[in-house]
Amino acid sequence: MRIHPLRPSIWQTGADPTRSRNGIEINVASGVTDNHRREARGPKLNEYEKRIATGQIDRDSLHTTFADVHAPVETISTLKLLTSLALVRPDAFSYGVLAQDKIPGCLLYGPPGTGKTMLAKAVAKESGANMLEISGASINDKWVGESEKLIRAVFTLAKRLSPCVVFIDEADSLLASRSMLSNRPSRREHINQFLKEWDGIEETNAFVMVATNRPFDLDDAVLRRLPRKVLVDLPLKSDRAAILSLLLKGESLDDSASLDEYAERTTYYSGSDLKNVCVAAAMAAVEEENAAAARHTGPEPFRYPERRVLRGDHFEKALRLIPASISEDMDSLKMIRKFDKEFGSGEKKNKKTIGFGVFDAKQYAGPSEARVRHGPNL
Ligand SMILES: Nc1ncnc2c1ncn2[C@@H]1O[C@H](COP(=O)(O)OP(=O)(O)O)[C@@H](O)[C@H]1O
Ligand SMILES: [Mg+2]
Repeated sequence: MRIHPLRPSIWQTGADPTRSRNGIEINVASGVTDNHRREARGPKLNEYEKRIATGQIDRDSLHTTFADVHAPVETISTLKLLTSLALVRPDAFSYGVLAQDKIPGCLLYGPPGTGKTMLAKAVAKESGANMLEISGASINDKWVGESEKLIRAVFTLAKRLSPCVVFIDEADSLLASRSMLSNRPSRREHINQFLKEWDGIEETNAFVMVATNRPFDLDDAVLRRLPRKVLVDLPLKSDRAAILSLLLKGESLDDSASLDEYAERTTYYSGSDLKNVCVAAAMAAVEEENAAAARHTGPEPFRYPERRVLRGDHFEKALRLIPASISEDMDSLKMIRKFDKEFGSGEKKNKKTIGFGVFDAKQYAGPSEARVRHGPNL
């Protein structure tokens, strides 16, 4: 498989993405707003576009930035690079030697709850693009012909929303390989149609991001179309500590709560599991306040504290309640690992890998380890 070389990025130069290199304003921001106004006056959406439009997130409503998601710098710089070219400077790739070098999309794969959706949102937000978030499963309509119309609607809508990140979540349920779909021959046609429509938006500044926890199920033609395959891995200990502090930035912590210790004890937890832990700990604190209110007697009404304080015992309770979700599905983790070895963009000789963890094929975790790529401090 041909991997496109990394190109210098306007992001990497630290330049404002709304400005071209010579400082002339491209004005992505106002361009999009104008687009929207134009669209409101434009032709009406058809029935299928309306259904797809439920996944539309206007750039003004996108709030996730790269600062909210903890991911390795390589992952973020790769995503910025790929998408800034497609979304911010498509003109530069429309002619000459770069014309065949345009990357039509990228694959985000990894265990559930590791931040794939967040990354896609951050990409859209920070490149000033709108987003169209679509679940592959929701397109697989049971009525013959419906799915075709929905697939078409994805791309016609993406064109209207351009610049636009088209985020196909649970992509395996729409774009799974032939062998996976033996009982549904029509799905082969869906894949072909999807690829055809995708070709048709080459000229538009839309970027297709395909996310799945089951990359090994994806159709070969789809995989070929996604030269960049980015692993979004389970967090290592230091990543978990960083994610916990991101999640808890609006909370007050008592000295008895030690995030480093919880990071140590949450091997195999995904970012989403860690979020559930934090929510459970905060809920424990709220329950305690409620119980105190219920017990309260006396002439004065009960006064809730202005801000809750999360203590060690709140976290202990939360950790007892919330296990690592991946531990129920170690098999698919092994399959992700196998896919990563075969296809992962990080698996290039002696190049830094993309994804959490480090950085040498020899350090892959043994079969009993949960991580896809093994790091030094699990
Ligand atoms: N790398 C991460 N950094 C910060 N928060 C995370 C991370 N991964 C997951 N989370 C938390 O878990 C939630 C679900 O993550 P999501 O992006 O939907 O995962 P995925 O799409 O990979 O299943 C997020 O809203 C966030 O609160
Ligand atoms: Mg998701």
